[in-house]
Amino acid sequence: MRPMKTIDWDDGSVLLIDQTRLPSVLKMVRCRSVSHLITAIRRLEVRGAPALGVAGAYGVALAAFTTRGRDFENFAGKVEAAAQQIARARPTAVNLSWGAEQVLARVQQARSIDEAREAALAEAQRIADEDVAACHALGDYGASLIPDHSTVLTHCNAGALACREWGTALGVIRSAVQAGKKVSIISCETRPLLQGSRLTAWELDRDGIPVTVIPDSAAAHLMRKGRIDCVLVGADRITHDAVFNKVGTYMHAVSARAHGIPFYVAAPLSTFDPDHGEEEIEIEDRDRDEVATFNGRVLIPDGVPVLNPAFDATPLSLVTAIVTPFGVLRPPLDWETIAAKRRVI
Ligand code: MRU
Repeated sequence: MRPMKTIDWDDGSVLLIDQTRLPSVLKMVRCRSVSHLITAIRRLEVRGAPALGVAGAYGVALAAFTTRGRDFENFAGKVEAAAQQIARARPTAVNLSWGAEQVLARVQQARSIDEAREAALAEAQRIADEDVAACHALGDYGASLIPDHSTVLTHCNAGALACREWGTALGVIRSAVQAGKKVSIISCETRPLLQGSRLTAWELDRDGIPVTVIPDSAAAHLMRKGRIDCVLVGADRITHDAVFNKVGTYMHAVSARAHGIPFYVAAPLSTFDPDHGEEEIEIEDRDRDEVATFNGRVLIPDGVPVLNPAFDATPLSLVTAIVTPFGVLRPPLDWETIAAKRRVI
């Protein structure tokens, strides 16, 4: 394995891998302002729910260091406004607003601007380190679900690039491989932004883990042919009735159920949303151009409308198990325990 940090605090700024340039170019972007970070989040230079949680946390620390105020109250008000803008940059992954709120709370508890800055950075660093620990912990639990000599289908990218390092779904795969299992991955390309072919394939190949890319539409065919042993994906938000993840996940869950294949989800506690249900959650709608053009070429006649929802919701009834840093949970979930554990991360 070749560890890398997707996102870090460096010299008063947020340093991140520009994921829009992969797999051809591995380049870092340095965000010195909150507005630059928000643009990076919207453009998916940094993406994936846990990485967005860390971006939200570092973003509020950045706001604390770049904001001036007449007095502490004035300063704290401006940092709060920045935190709200960061939290709203993308609506579906709950980790983003969670990370921003955790750090904002430290700012609000402080008694001076200097104390607030110090506390904000310490909390953001803690959240970033905790994300790494959570991925390793859930990876070790989840590895037991992956049979030796198996083929696992995944969708989008729930790897090191979607977290600070290691990954959730791909963290489980890395832990299984580290434990000596032979595992190969089928990565769905993940139209329209191709996180599966550009990012999942890149990071698994870099670590020497066998990976094959398929068009999203080939998944059910391979399940029918007996070529898939289980499906394993990440999550952007887990409400009390559904798992939100990259659009296309729901169709894999339906196909997996139809073929008697286990459907697993891997997620840290920051991805759980005990207070909401499916109908209350906004699914991000993205630009027409992501579907209607490729490399500057027009693919859809002008005037023909496009729908481009970035996520879908899979009912918990289709989920075999959820891998978390405190064990493998099988629905129905014990939400009281989850909420209590989530309060202390
Ligand atoms: O639009 P993206 O690339 O941010 O979507 C990411 C996903 O849907 C991932 O599967 C999810 O965040 C889990 S990442 C561990």
